[in-house]
Amino acid sequence: MTPAPTSSLDLCRPEARSLPIYNAGISERTARAKYNLARVTKLASNENPFGVSPAVIEVFERAFHQIYRYPDPKCTALRERIQALNAIEADRIVFGNGSEDIIEMLCKALLSPGDRVVTLAPTFGLHEIFPLMMGATVDKVRINADFGYDLPLWRRSLCRAPVKLVMFSTPSNPVGCILRTAEFRELINAAPPDAVLVVDEAYHEYAAHEDYPDSLKLLSAQPRPWLVLRTFSKAYSLAGLRIGYGLASDAELVSILDRVRTPFNVNSAAQEAALAALSDAEHLQATVSATARERDLLADRLNSVESVQGYGLRIAPSRANFLFIDTANSSREIAEALLRLGVIVKPWLEPGYDTFIRVSVGRRADNEHFMEAFEHVMRRRQIDLG
Ligand SMILES: Cc1ncc(COP(=O)(O)O)c(C=O)c1O
Repeated sequence: MTPAPTSSLDLCRPEARSLPIYNAGISERTARAKYNLARVTKLASNENPFGVSPAVIEVFERAFHQIYRYPDPKCTALRERIQALNAIEADRIVFGNGSEDIIEMLCKALLSPGDRVVTLAPTFGLHEIFPLMMGATVDKVRINADFGYDLPLWRRSLCRAPVKLVMFSTPSNPVGCILRTAEFRELINAAPPDAVLVVDEAYHEYAAHEDYPDSLKLLSAQPRPWLVLRTFSKAYSLAGLRIGYGLASDAELVSILDRVRTPFNVNSAAQEAALAALSDAEHLQATVSATARERDLLADRLNSVESVQGYGLRIAPSRANFLFIDTANSSREIAEALLRLGVIVKPWLEPGYDTFIRVSVGRRADNEHFMEAFEHVMRRRQIDLG
């Protein structure tokens, strides 16, 4: 008798089997097909809606002719540029196929089953999923009622040793809050001396402000190993090419990450495009400023709708290119109703935050499409409930 086939699930590591699935959202094409939509506005992945610099388009053709070759595994030219921009030694820089690749490398290299990771709640999904994949336990520190980092809670969580990894984003995804300088110092100083600190600054370029700290300076002034993560996916508009980097406390940490990364993890077009994007500071500044203006306009619109209609909305103040909105309804249902009207947003599904949607800031017409659809959906809900 032939033995019963083994299920793939049975062959899986238990950590992988129970892993939550990252909510990567849906594409415009899928949305269009699902509801037969003529117009789709995608505000779900915090991309830069103003597109790439002309300098990127120019180098892209050159990069295209080189795709028969493997990419430079050390990203040498880009490394030199980032080294100069950040005044850091070349061997303290690591590159990834998106910064998410570096989060995965970190977890693979540092975490063993039972290690404890402390992160934020609500959190960027991969800050939780990759540690769980390695069998670590993840403690999530909730934001406070004002949508900020809850420092007393962080202190309490960090003093419960051991802590292997402290990982959080600032500006935070999905909330948009930043850790101010004094808070930043307090949080890192509360960590045990043998914890590794990972500060994910995916939205760094949007946060410039006098109270947004120079994390490299603050981290350099303390003894724990650390890594600051940055990406070209957001303000630099290269999400589709996949490239991010990390700045580390020491070359040893980078050499450990190098051991677990795939050797050619950053494609050649991405390396060229990142260099070109860095060369156009004007484009960066113009699109970041336009996004900040649109974000504040959108927040004002939402707040005034709330004050007139009283839907029970709460809009978190944001220093990034998105807004986190408590809809006081099921986020899944609101997002689906918006999708029917052609607007893709991200329903937050994390326990405790599943009435929130995260809306990326688009161009003016995109944001107007969202507002129109959102008001329609919320009005309908009120009528249905009334
Ligand atoms: C906080 C944070 N970190 C990392 C990433 C990953 O970005 P990428 O892999 O595109 O560099 C994202 C993307 O949304 C993010 O929000």
